Amino acid sequence: MSNKIQTLSGYIHEYSKSIQDPENFWSRIADSFHWQRRWDSVVEWNFEEPNINWFVNAKLNISENILERHLFILGDKPAIIWEPNDPGEAGRIITYRELYEMVCQFSNAMKAHGIGKGDRVIIYMPMVPEAAVAMLACARIGAVHSVVFAGFSAQSLSDRINDCQATMVLTSDGNFRGNKTIPIKEIVDEALKSAPSAEKVIVLQRTGQRVDMQDGRDIWWHDAITGMAKENKAEIMDSEDMLFILYTSGSTGKPKGVVHTCGGYMVYTCYSFQNAFQYSIGDVYWCTADIGWITGHSYIVYGPLLAGATTLMFEGVPTYPDPGRFWNICDKHRVNQFYTAPTAIRALQVFGTEPIEPYRLDSLKVIGSVGEPINEEAWHWYHDHVGKGKCPVVDTWWQTETGGIMISPIAGVTPTKPAYATLPLPGIQPVIVDNNGKELTGNTVEGNLCIKFPWPSMLRTTYGDHERCRQTYFSSFKGYYFTGDGVKRDEDGYYRILGRVDDVINVSGHRMGTAEVENAINEHPKVIESAVVGYPHEIKGQGIYAYVICDMEGRSEENLINEIRETVTKIIGPIAKPDKIQIVPGLPKTRSGKIMRRILRKIASGDMANMGDTSTLLNPAVVEQIKEKALTPS
Ligand code: WTA
Repeated sequence: MSNKIQTLSGYIHEYSKSIQDPENFWSRIADSFHWQRRWDSVVEWNFEEPNINWFVNAKLNISENILERHLFILGDKPAIIWEPNDPGEAGRIITYRELYEMVCQFSNAMKAHGIGKGDRVIIYMPMVPEAAVAMLACARIGAVHSVVFAGFSAQSLSDRINDCQATMVLTSDGNFRGNKTIPIKEIVDEALKSAPSAEKVIVLQRTGQRVDMQDGRDIWWHDAITGMAKENKAEIMDSEDMLFILYTSGSTGKPKGVVHTCGGYMVYTCYSFQNAFQYSIGDVYWCTADIGWITGHSYIVYGPLLAGATTLMFEGVPTYPDPGRFWNICDKHRVNQFYTAPTAIRALQVFGTEPIEPYRLDSLKVIGSVGEPINEEAWHWYHDHVGKGKCPVVDTWWQTETGGIMISPIAGVTPTKPAYATLPLPGIQPVIVDNNGKELTGNTVEGNLCIKFPWPSMLRTTYGDHERCRQTYFSSFKGYYFTGDGVKRDEDGYYRILGRVDDVINVSGHRMGTAEVENAINEHPKVIESAVVGYPHEIKGQGIYAYVICDMEGRSEENLINEIRETVTKIIGPIAKPDKIQIVPGLPKTRSGKIMRRILRKIASGDMANMGDTSTLLNPAVVEQIKEKALTPS
């Protein structure tokens, strides 16, 4: 692959070219794709509005670049290898030609049910190949997909459907997860009671469980594709037409719909995939993320398939039927590149090396990490026991908003360093600014991580609310995109991500706004006020600690706490359930009424010694009261 960097000096050379002359650099990378019309200019932008356009006026279809572009050479090669939840069930191998046919056929079915360019389609599905087919089918006809993680509640699902006014929902009867079967069609039925825009629901049969099919609204997937042609012509899209919306949490209560567009996202996800993982045609690549998250979008579906890769998709969980499942799959399918999250590594680390020992893991060449800072201990365990000391660990830092990997080693090409995401990929210009927005140059500095120049896969807006996009990302530090992360640049110039500096917590690699969890807690009728903070958690990275003021009349603490947990599960989903709930008589507030989270964070992490200055508090006595009853950290 001509776009693949192969040596350290090659990296240095490419990086400097990408900074000195971004237009020529990206134009060369973009030339390896199929465009219906070439661009008039490579990038036009400002970070004030913001207004970002890549490959201006170019026309393309991303599904054509995945399917038609590869058919001639890779038609009979596996595009997707699917491993089911139950190891006893047969897996599936889908070649590029079969994928082409499935995508065309399903996109024809969607069209027959009234979906066209620009319409929003919600995908709420298990990890089965049809979920990828659904995404690509949307892309093929120009519909905008929004994948919602199938662990979210009915309420979260209906909020998202309403926000983007989706007219179709794609789902399945149920979802196998370990030894559980989750009735996801029921959740869709519940969500649609308060989401009237969704007129059609296409239901894939996966578990075979009984479901209610509503006449005129619900259609079985197998019926929908019956008689549909297995070919069609892809819709011609503008480079800046919307490709998808993906909802993610921020520091306010309402998740925002991050918008990605066609051309730039295509170029960058493919380029970053090929480079970070050093993928070669014929390798088997496996990313364990769920397609409901950006990692699943960019590095299970789009990036790998654009690169003509074989991407493995796993339906189940790491510990089912036993904690050796990941390693079993790696050996079974001779996986070459393996990409997972620190939380999964730490969860498996708890079982020791015994579950790994029966496996050879000799096909592995590269192992990757994403989603949260990886602690040194987990890094070494991963490197020594999974990578057997011979696979570079690519610790890839990026975000839903960045669309693709931003700071990461290039496997085997640039150096690695435990707990460091190391160096930016070509085209990425990170800067560190202090709290006044002053750029900190040189090495051995620490501050807020910003990016000072656009890159092709960056977000363009937040759906339906451009001002929110400007406020959140482009107003804190003038002239920069602000990531929300703290970072340090060490004496060698390597970047180490220190975690979020805003009110976002990262639980098992899932982003959660503290305000979002507070809103859910406050839905409980007995709750008067709440404050949520993150605290260090051995496996999840961060746990959720909630301080809640309640009307206790006639209630036991224990019952209330359980009810509050259930309320959060119902409103957001089980991933947002607080690990610890402390009923408190009050919250530490400033005279202007702002909750002093700094204090609550300290208490949650068990650090009671020095509370810092509490003299500006309205009610300093409450701090002692909270401390007295604080729950011990895990
Ligand atoms: C965090 C996931 C440290 C970070 C792709 C970021 C990381 C947030 C890393 C985005 C990493 C992601 N090292 N922190 N390698 N990767 N993060 O949108 O705080 O789900 O801002 O995207 O995860 O989470 P998101």
